[in-house]
Amino acid sequence: MVAGLVSEEAQGFVGAGAAKAKPGSKAAPFSDGERAAVYRAIAERRDVRRGFLPEPLPDDVLDRLLHAAHQSPSVGLMQPTRFIVVRDAQVRRRVYEAFLQANVAASAGYDDVRRERYAGLKLDGLLEAPQHICLVCETGSARGHGLGRQTMPETAVYSTVCAAQNLWLAARAEGVGVGWVSIFEPAALRAILELPEALTPVAYLCVGYVDRFAEGPDLERFGWEWRAKLTECVRYERWGGASEDGH
Ligand SMILES: Cc1cc2nc3c(=O)[nH]c(=O)nc-3n(C[C@H](O)[C@H](O)[C@H](O)COP(=O)(O)O)c2cc1C
Repeated sequence: MVAGLVSEEAQGFVGAGAAKAKPGSKAAPFSDGERAAVYRAIAERRDVRRGFLPEPLPDDVLDRLLHAAHQSPSVGLMQPTRFIVVRDAQVRRRVYEAFLQANVAASAGYDDVRRERYAGLKLDGLLEAPQHICLVCETGSARGHGLGRQTMPETAVYSTVCAAQNLWLAARAEGVGVGWVSIFEPAALRAILELPEALTPVAYLCVGYVDRFAEGPDLERFGWEWRAKLTECVRYERWGGASEDGH
């Protein structure tokens, strides 16, 4: 064995039969029930803006969500994501006020018809959700030794987005609603959360138990936008190549 390399047996592969796997054999998939649960969490995850219950998350549930987020993939194993859990009602209100201000500015950019429709949307649950979690990215962290970031430095922030998605899916499995709010001036969030320059705010999440999960996206129900068909989004071999529906 070359010095510094680890044998496959010592690498800690997991899964039924992994230790005995013959070269070229397939790793075992999850059982049918386990797979169904994963796909269910993906299909039934919703962005939640309404119906938050006032009960705060117990520490063990919060801990599981943070662990799920912390296990996400990250460029070069950089793990640049830092989490700020906000429970204080006064801080939540200040964040809500920052949202209100940005929301007025956002609506001003639309024509009359769209602006009216925009005004009918509920785009946050900041006051209702008993806790928020802000995911920030330490973009300049030396962790990972720059692997994967030399050509695409933005992958640090992408890694934090992966953490947010892990948290979102784990929350659905726990029966916990998550709503992502991005309608902020970053400088306003920086000031409220006292973020140093080295930290970039990436995801601001409203988190809490909910009375129910909607079947589909709120934005569909309120006539703002509709989910695209997968066939419209997939091409083969190159951008100009055929799509599944032959176009
Ligand atoms: C990066 C990002 C930012 C978002 N910002 C907001 C937001 O500010 N307000 C809001 O109501 N929803 C926000 N959403 C939620 C999307 O509107 C929602 O994911 C989309 O409509 C699909 O609905 P679903 O998540 O329930 O499937 C955001 C989602 C993402 C991924």
